Amino acid sequence: MDILAIESSCDETAAAVIRDGREIISSVVATQIEEHKLYGGVVPEIASRRHCESIVGVVGEALEKAGKAAEEIDAIAVTYAPGLIGALLVGVNFAKGLAFSLNKPLIPVHHIRGHIAANYLAYPELAPPYICLVASGGHSHIVRVNGYTEFETVGRTVDDAAGEAFDKAARVMGFPYPGGVHIDSAAKRGDPTKYVLPHPKTANRYDFSFSGLKTAVINLVHNTNQKGGEIDFDSLAASFQYTVSDILTSKFVSAAEEYGYEKIALAGGVAANSGLRSMLEERAAKKGMTLYVPPISLCGDNAAMIGSQAYYEYLAGVRAGTALNAAATMKLDIPYTEKTNGAV
Ligand code: KG4
Ligand code: ZN
Repeated sequence: MDILAIESSCDETAAAVIRDGREIISSVVATQIEEHKLYGGVVPEIASRRHCESIVGVVGEALEKAGKAAEEIDAIAVTYAPGLIGALLVGVNFAKGLAFSLNKPLIPVHHIRGHIAANYLAYPELAPPYICLVASGGHSHIVRVNGYTEFETVGRTVDDAAGEAFDKAARVMGFPYPGGVHIDSAAKRGDPTKYVLPHPKTANRYDFSFSGLKTAVINLVHNTNQKGGEIDFDSLAASFQYTVSDILTSKFVSAAEEYGYEKIALAGGVAANSGLRSMLEERAAKKGMTLYVPPISLCGDNAAMIGSQAYYEYLAGVRAGTALNAAATMKLDIPYTEKTNGAV
């Protein structure tokens, strides 16, 4: 079964053709980062406009690269939540129009479920049950993946997402948006023990809180500047990356142990971070756990992961009609139904 998937939840317009949830036939990602960089972050209104301009070309290119006419596609999938509402609406309405005109099934996909599915494209043997740490610009979740469409969130951020903390800390260190990748490169040259940063506490042991850590970095930079001191930015980047990775990894591995998972997976844009990948690899190996990490190309937003998850949603009977709406927030654990548009 070939699914044409569309993703437009943030600042990437993406389309892909995915076979049976596991094979990438084509995948196209048009990023808007260069433009948002000018403003130090994603400007929602600009994102929506660029999605409108790009979507026809991106979907056309995905079909062309797959060597398929639109009529030869078996179903259309689209990210319907969560994300920037104006950005999501572009993909959702385009997908609705396409599905209706072609008379093909329309499959709504939750963005974070998509991030988790990225691993299915890289590891043919990976199947639920397993536990996944999803860390991206908008989300940080520890999710029990009990079935392809059965999820149970056991921990999540109570304030900033991990990627958001990376980007905000990077900004005060003078790196351009999105700063996560710049912290990653600078950290390679720095000493991770030079600056001691806080591990903020949370009421639920598997929840995350990154806002205090981000503020500690901002205060450290401002206070040092005020005193005319010098900051070793490579070591600050290394210390910050080490602390975030330690928080994510410790909680995730504890949750995996408590719930008895031997298979664990990492997903989301922050999964591209080299420090996090190696720390998790090391600690998982010590516990005898098998770790699945997506290739860098599938960590950030893309439509291939949406097409993968869409296949399993399709098998579970999930369909949307022309009433499908986008939603800025949406729980990951709740299945989509037409009556509720996925909401409780
Ligand atoms: O998954 P994603 O593309 O978008 C969301 O769904 O949010 O994640 C983007 C986030 C950004 O915050 C970006 O800085 C971060 O992932 N990121 C990284 C790295 N590459 C991307 N953070 C740390 N290290 C990296 N190498
Ligand atoms: Zn994402």
